[in-house]
Amino acid sequence: MRRFAAWIDGECLLRKGVSDLTHSDERSKFVAPHAEPLKGDENFVKSTYKFLKNPLEGFGPLAYRQPIVSLPTFGYKTHVVSDPEGMLTVLGTEARKFEKAPIDSRILSAATKEGLLRVKGDQWKKQRRGVAPIFRPKYMENLAPMISSVVGQYTDKFSSDQTYELNQLMADLTFDVLSKALLGDPKGVDGEKLRRATRKVVTSAGTLRPDDLLPWPRWVPRPILPGGMIALRRLKTAANQLLDSRDPDNPGDDLIGLLIGTTDPHTGEALTHRERRDNLIGFFIAGHETTALTLTWAFYLLAKDPNSFQKARAEIDDKIGERKIVYSDLQQLEFCRAVVNETLRLFPPAPILIRECQEETELLGRIMSPRDILILNNYIMHRTDRLWDEPNVFDPDRFIRSPTLSKKGAAFMPFGAGPRICVGAAFAMMEALMVLCNIVREFEIDVPADCFPNPKMTVTLRPETDIPVRFRRRI
Ligand code: HEM
Repeated sequence: MRRFAAWIDGECLLRKGVSDLTHSDERSKFVAPHAEPLKGDENFVKSTYKFLKNPLEGFGPLAYRQPIVSLPTFGYKTHVVSDPEGMLTVLGTEARKFEKAPIDSRILSAATKEGLLRVKGDQWKKQRRGVAPIFRPKYMENLAPMISSVVGQYTDKFSSDQTYELNQLMADLTFDVLSKALLGDPKGVDGEKLRRATRKVVTSAGTLRPDDLLPWPRWVPRPILPGGMIALRRLKTAANQLLDSRDPDNPGDDLIGLLIGTTDPHTGEALTHRERRDNLIGFFIAGHETTALTLTWAFYLLAKDPNSFQKARAEIDDKIGERKIVYSDLQQLEFCRAVVNETLRLFPPAPILIRECQEETELLGRIMSPRDILILNNYIMHRTDRLWDEPNVFDPDRFIRSPTLSKKGAAFMPFGAGPRICVGAAFAMMEALMVLCNIVREFEIDVPADCFPNPKMTVTLRPETDIPVRFRRRI
């Protein structure tokens, strides 16, 4: 665990009941930080600059007001979609007419060219059928005690005068969970090196650059900065070593063992060595940062909204008491699940999905032509008052008042939709709930009253500034 050096003014005002601008009114609802849209009168240079700095701030008010906004771009059109029906059409019913866009492929190619995140067509079908069973509830159940034990290793070291940076702490914790789930107890692999290499690859490949806005064909490789290249080489070497260290006839029952042993249920075909390696790297990239960010924002929101914090704790006390939390308990924790859902609504870790149109088709009353780019904007869909009451307010109860909000067809798609919906969603939800519940029931969470980080998109949606946090053991 990395220590965070400074604590703002030596104390946290929030727990002393000092209200601040972030509380909207006497009902003490917490208004979450939000990305400031363009005003609409910016010129091309200014809006491009804002977009590159934080893509979430590069959209104007029209994108919030309309289900679809279309703009001419270098000889094709870009359509910004923030409507559930439009999203479901592109990702689901008409998915074959829309492929992952070249920018997506370019960003992912270097690290996971032959992995599920990047491949398409028959190769994708084969991999998806082989990989999906790895995340079956049966295996999730086995992973739950391991997650509690990793949380315990962290919380045993918490002391009330120690300050952590929340996102860093959650990134460390979720990395440990993921590597234990994927790799069991990896002998001969330096976990810290693997963690550093993964983060370096995510940050160097995952930061948008001016050249990303140009219409490169898919086959033009996207240059990675030298530090990123070294990290990527380390990651590939570690993944190869991990795969080679397993006995092919008895690869083990952790996720890597399942990945080696899995076959396409239709054809009986196994994954190639390269596919296994790229999927392993893909899991590290897709499965570590996203869950860490969900937990970072969830703890931040609970620290800022004491009512929701107490309600979550009361639910855990009531339904579970003092015994260990097990997988089957998670179904009963309705409010805690609503906290995670509301966090994913306000801060979807994958705020934008991009597709390229392959075949002329109509969408929301407009014609999409081949080469048109569709920016499926989850962030705007989750935050527009066209679709949500008080969209910036943290209100987990909305998912209990209207249970259909988390069902298919609702304006809530943090894991995407259709055939390419996140394959690790059940694992991510289980992990987020296990970590959240284990910490909330034992600790008070203090974040300084003036800590109000803007959401900033790189490829994932992160807090723009550090979040200093302290955990005090419950009395
Ligand atoms: C809160 C956590 C997570 C969020 C919000 C999230 C979000 C997403 C989204 C939105 C997609 C669809 C991308 C698209 O359609 O372009 C996706 C795909 C994917 N995710 Fe996740 N993810 C999370 C956790 C995980 C975990 C834990 C894993 C694995 C260990 C994982 C592995 C993948 C893979 C392999 C795909 C590609 C699936 C395919 O194309 O068939 N994700 N994720």
